[in-house]
Amino acid sequence: MPSLDDLTRPPGRPPRLLYGGDWNPEQWPEETWAEDVRLMRRAGVNSVTLGVFSWSRLEPAPGAREFGWLDRLMDLTHENGIGVVLATPTSSPPPWLGRLHPETLPRDEDGRTEWWGSRQHFSHSSEAYRRHAAAITEDLAARYAGHPALTMWHINNEYCTHDWGDEAARTFRRWLKARYGTLDALNTAWGTDFWSQRYADWAEVLPPRRAHYLKNPAHVLDFRRYTSDLLLECYRAERDIVRRHTPHLPVTTNFMPFWSGQDGWAWAAEEDLVSVDVYPDPRDPRGGQDNAMIGDLTRSQAGGRPWMVMEQAAGAVNWRDVNHPKPPGLNRLWALQAVAHGADAVCYFQWRQSRQGAERFHSGMLGHAGERGRVFQETVRIGADLARLGPHVAGSRVTTDIAVLHDWHSWWADGPDGAPSRRVDHAGIVRAWHRALFDARLPVSFAHPHHDLTGHRLVLVPHLHLLDDTAIDNLTAYVQGGGTLVCGFLTGVADQDGRVRPGGMDPRLRALLGIDLLQEWWPLDEDERVDCGTFHGTLWSEELTPAAGAETVAAYRGGELDGLPAVLRNGRAWYVSTLPEPDALRELLAAVAREAGTGAVLDGLPEGVEAVRRGELLFLLHHGRDPLTVPLPGRYRDLLTGALSTGTLTLERYGVAVLEETP
Ligand code: GLA
Repeated sequence: MPSLDDLTRPPGRPPRLLYGGDWNPEQWPEETWAEDVRLMRRAGVNSVTLGVFSWSRLEPAPGAREFGWLDRLMDLTHENGIGVVLATPTSSPPPWLGRLHPETLPRDEDGRTEWWGSRQHFSHSSEAYRRHAAAITEDLAARYAGHPALTMWHINNEYCTHDWGDEAARTFRRWLKARYGTLDALNTAWGTDFWSQRYADWAEVLPPRRAHYLKNPAHVLDFRRYTSDLLLECYRAERDIVRRHTPHLPVTTNFMPFWSGQDGWAWAAEEDLVSVDVYPDPRDPRGGQDNAMIGDLTRSQAGGRPWMVMEQAAGAVNWRDVNHPKPPGLNRLWALQAVAHGADAVCYFQWRQSRQGAERFHSGMLGHAGERGRVFQETVRIGADLARLGPHVAGSRVTTDIAVLHDWHSWWADGPDGAPSRRVDHAGIVRAWHRALFDARLPVSFAHPHHDLTGHRLVLVPHLHLLDDTAIDNLTAYVQGGGTLVCGFLTGVADQDGRVRPGGMDPRLRALLGIDLLQEWWPLDEDERVDCGTFHGTLWSEELTPAAGAETVAAYRGGELDGLPAVLRNGRAWYVSTLPEPDALRELLAAVAREAGTGAVLDGLPEGVEAVRRGELLFLLHHGRDPLTVPLPGRYRDLLTGALSTGTLTLERYGVAVLEETP
């Protein structure tokens, strides 16, 4: 199978990292193109993505084809040594498609149509949409298959649409029939005897549209599964077309960062390389951790292989309430941080900032201030850094002893409606646990609960509400085989249909974790904290009776739960029944990691400095503004500057060092 490796480590040529971004030259007069390419060369850009939103240009009327402009661009990039990631334009159909085929337009939960005039106005279920998308993909692939500029395919863009309309009702039934076979099985899985929801005919089964009160959670869960699967069908159809023409080229589609809409494990398995769009808020003091977490997750989705930042912003985005620019140095820091976490391609949305359209205030690598602007100067600097690192870094791996389990199905089953607390936010809890590891400098990967976990010394389950039988057997076998496991509250409460397990938590899991009875959940209010002796818990607490032999490591103090376990251990299996405050969670996980035989990448680092090992190299990343001196355990050469350091190293504002140990 072709991969990113084929592009970053071409036989007979030195390894390199890909650098570039979305280029939308169709928005500009052709005179600008030569200037663009000149500046790309100056910045060391070696890869551009073309055609993401160009359907109405390529097919101005049904069946018409206008490829001349793209031919000229493909030739121009090739003449300048820049490779092209060619996108299928199918995420923004031309207005004529919606006019001729209104059924291609998705409907929201309330039955309202999403019209053309923005983007992503297509129904995954529409046969007309799929037919037209396949036709333009076919012709694009046939035309450029042999073009020497073409390096990779980018299918659609951020698949994220939903549809509750009639087209969707039809495919939802098809999907449900494949899953359940009979209506009886569906009624059982969804528990439709609750509130008289029993279906007597398939025609009664609809997407979960606007309703009077709480919806059936199993219905909602399956709709989310179905939406992910239907979008995946659209991806596969286009992927198979381009593969037929260019079996030697990798195919990807860009994920949104840690987004709930797609089953990221299932999707990644269908890609030759995994790519993601990453947009941490420059004002968020935890932005660097966010960037690290996306990197860890994407690398894990890629099975540990190098991955691609398909998009990030050189400066401000334009979709937050207030859109802050990146202060000098931050763009470079986050770009190199992605490389530290295993990326072999660092790309942006977009090359040249648009003057028109909805994103005219979104930054570009070449901003409105142009060639002399600070943002472009940084673009040039990052290009030079990546060129220096490429030969040393491309293709190397990040390995970790710790795995955090994550599963989109559990995220979907864990919605706020009808739950014990609306404050329990799946993503927020995973972030909090990742933060503890990040702050303790414990390298971490993510894994699916069915994955082989035996290679990890420590497995963490921050919050998997839904665990099927295979997952429970896997966790049990992992601990029995000598692994250490830490589970957060609400783990294993529900089965694959979202049905609560007997006793409120799977009995096998209770036995594993040393819980005799799970009596009651005691969720906490926003301003509420529980005293757990040596720390405070937030968000959640639990009334549970430990099993004989289990050890209460920390107990609730005072209140209704006085003396009951906040942290419980049963041999190598741990259960944390609250969300400890950040420092406490960090200390707890660091202590368990030590006992499990793993530890920080580097000890004694000042706060705000991240250390990551990739292959033989040590990346030090300074997430703050004040220069710092960092202790070093030996003698190192910084590949970015060539400087040698022994014993200590100074990192400037947002500074990065990529260190190679030298004798
Ligand atoms: C997404 C899209 C891009 C662009 C950026 C803006 O990542 O894929 O087309 O809209 O957001 O941040």
